[in-house]
Amino acid sequence: MTRRIDIVEVGPRDGLQNDPGALSTDQKLEFIARLEACGVKRMESGSFVSLKAVPKMADSGEVFRGLDRSTGTRHIALALNEKGVRRAIDAAADEINFVLVAGEGFGKRNQGMSPQESADMLNTCAPLVHDASIPLSATVSVAFGDPYDGEVDPGVVANLAAQAQRAGVAEIGLGDTIGVATPWQVRSLIERVRTEAPDVYLRLHFHDTRGAALANVFAAVEADVNVIDASCGGIGGCPFAPAATGNVATEDVVYMLERAGFETGLDLGKLIETAKWLEGALGHPVSSSLSRAGGFPG
Ligand code: COA
Ligand code: ZN
Repeated sequence: MTRRIDIVEVGPRDGLQNDPGALSTDQKLEFIARLEACGVKRMESGSFVSLKAVPKMADSGEVFRGLDRSTGTRHIALALNEKGVRRAIDAAADEINFVLVAGEGFGKRNQGMSPQESADMLNTCAPLVHDASIPLSATVSVAFGDPYDGEVDPGVVANLAAQAQRAGVAEIGLGDTIGVATPWQVRSLIERVRTEAPDVYLRLHFHDTRGAALANVFAAVEADVNVIDASCGGIGGCPFAPAATGNVATEDVVYMLERAGFETGLDLGKLIETAKWLEGALGHPVSSSLSRAGGFPG
């Protein structure tokens, strides 16, 4: 049987939050609808964070209100604190993705929290999400390296994952926020997290800042991970991570996996068309390889 790899599209959130181009709320909704037409079934559609910290996500409430809820796509809201979780519940998010942080330096600048404070905040927020009967996932940001502190202790990441498991989180994302991971590090961190949090599903989140993102996707898939975050066009970046660039591109991941015989449920041709539409809407080229070269065989 063909092995299925589920791609979580993060373009409307991680992709747009720091892009120099600006989409109106209507354009964001068009982007989301186009992605749904590509076959996307799970998507980060906005974040409920401080409007001052990330102005590009200030209209996430309107975006969620404007979504077509008849398509069967699960729209994920990102949150980092109690206010964000309450706003995400009010916006009827289909899933809440809570951000844990593995590095002190990034944690302080991105969300004003240490790693343990982010886990404590998750413990405060998880009951609210469970009471609202909304699926709860979490992503450990800077799991492979911190832009301010350098190397991150894998033990800290595994410990955060174990605490998230105890808080009732079903899926943990390991986030390479600044694109420093290598495939071997990916394999060993997955093993370490599985040892300390054996009951959670794993999702891997890569940025292509240093050119290793597709190799890291390969390593994750080889390590039996079945869920990968990616953004159409390869747009993306974090305002609190200097020099951070885009997420691994959805169309590049889909091409690599489908050509190798995996099933993603996504339409490569439509993804490339959407990446080209995005270039026009953002007013600059996007970085994905497939939007330049096209698929193969033609
Ligand atoms: N949504 C909207 N506003 C929020 C908020 C939320 N989730 N959380 C806090 N705020 C507001 C507060 O109401 C307060 O507003 P005021 O100045 O008008 O009174 C202000 O933000 C500061 O609140 P405080 O609790 O002191 O937060 P902080 O300044 O320590 O910032 C975060 C903490 C988490 C709110 C902030 O760092 C943040 O939003 N970071 C987001 C980073 C991000 O999204 N990174 C990319 C994804 S990982
Ligand atoms: Zn990211």
